[in-house]
Amino acid sequence: MSEYQGVLHRYGHLLHLPPHTRPVTLLEGNTPLIPVLRLAEHLGGGFELYVKYEGLNPTGSFKDRGMTAAISEAVGRGARAVICASTGNTAASAAAYAARAGLRPIVLIPQGKVAAGKLAGAVAYGALVIQVEGSFDDALQMVVEISEKHPICLVNSLNPYRIEGQKTAAFEICDRLGAAPDWLCLPVGNAGNITAYWAGFRQYDFLRGIGLPRLLGVQAAGAAPLVLGHPVDHPETIATAIRIGRPARGEQALQAAEESGGRIIAVTDEEILTMQRQLAALEGIWVEPASAAGLAGLAHEIAAGRLNVRGRRVVAVCTGHGLKDPDIITGQIGSPLVISPRVEILEGVLFQ
Ligand code: F0G
Repeated sequence: MSEYQGVLHRYGHLLHLPPHTRPVTLLEGNTPLIPVLRLAEHLGGGFELYVKYEGLNPTGSFKDRGMTAAISEAVGRGARAVICASTGNTAASAAAYAARAGLRPIVLIPQGKVAAGKLAGAVAYGALVIQVEGSFDDALQMVVEISEKHPICLVNSLNPYRIEGQKTAAFEICDRLGAAPDWLCLPVGNAGNITAYWAGFRQYDFLRGIGLPRLLGVQAAGAAPLVLGHPVDHPETIATAIRIGRPARGEQALQAAEESGGRIIAVTDEEILTMQRQLAALEGIWVEPASAAGLAGLAHEIAAGRLNVRGRRVVAVCTGHGLKDPDIITGQIGSPLVISPRVEILEGVLFQ
């Protein structure tokens, strides 16, 4: 097999990208699908459970799949600057791919609500970072308006090429399993990713007859417009990545969930943090809080008796790495024990 060259090289023939597209890649994608046996047992057992670990992408989240496509199209068309609103991961990804393409990245983030690893990433990759006194939704509206007025390319998931790139995760899952899973669980924020997965699964099923999964989309209870059926003006959740009250692709997400025979549900912050801990402690997979939401939703539905997974194959998408948001963990444990540098003291701690 030839050397891996990123998602556009691997799946470009299946993506609707214009001919002027000029590939800019960090060799994103090709992420592991990890069987999580201990967690499956913990959730009652009797089914196959896999984590699609998207935190292992070059900038630490699934956004890189869509960003390689959006930036490749933008640079091929002669764009000079790109802009996005972001809860953090899109910002870091846009900044990295823009840097690689020689474009100027501008990112708008909700003031004080972006996790440390994401903000640091955006700054490190050289983005102009602007904090907005408001929510992600306010910032998104601003970047949409400015990109309509000025020659700055919008790289939020309203950009159709983002969706095209993100379809590749569905292709990878099917290629690895030889079929679509029975269920796909994933967090939902601005709703681009669930839209992309559904488009990807449908396309692959059309081409290869590999079946379709049911989708379990999961929002945080304090930011659950798709569950409540109306926008949320002041979304709040510890999972800042999905702290979104007016999802740009909300309608499409609801339609995808319904068409698939699945649904969109909400879980509490406590359920999210519990799942984040369990996944790390039982499987050695540390993800950021929002990324644990899909699995938290699965646990929630199984416990409520609303989802019979017996004999089924379930894939949970873990969208971002735990290192993105270290403060969540250090905030929970405080400072670790300190001892003087003497082995007797260590023995005392370990064996008494
Ligand atoms: N998980 C993580 C880690 C995210 O960063 C996001 C979205 C989602 C899930 C939800 O995906 O928006 O396609 O439904 N983050 C965006 C950002 C909003 O700005 O980084 P979605």
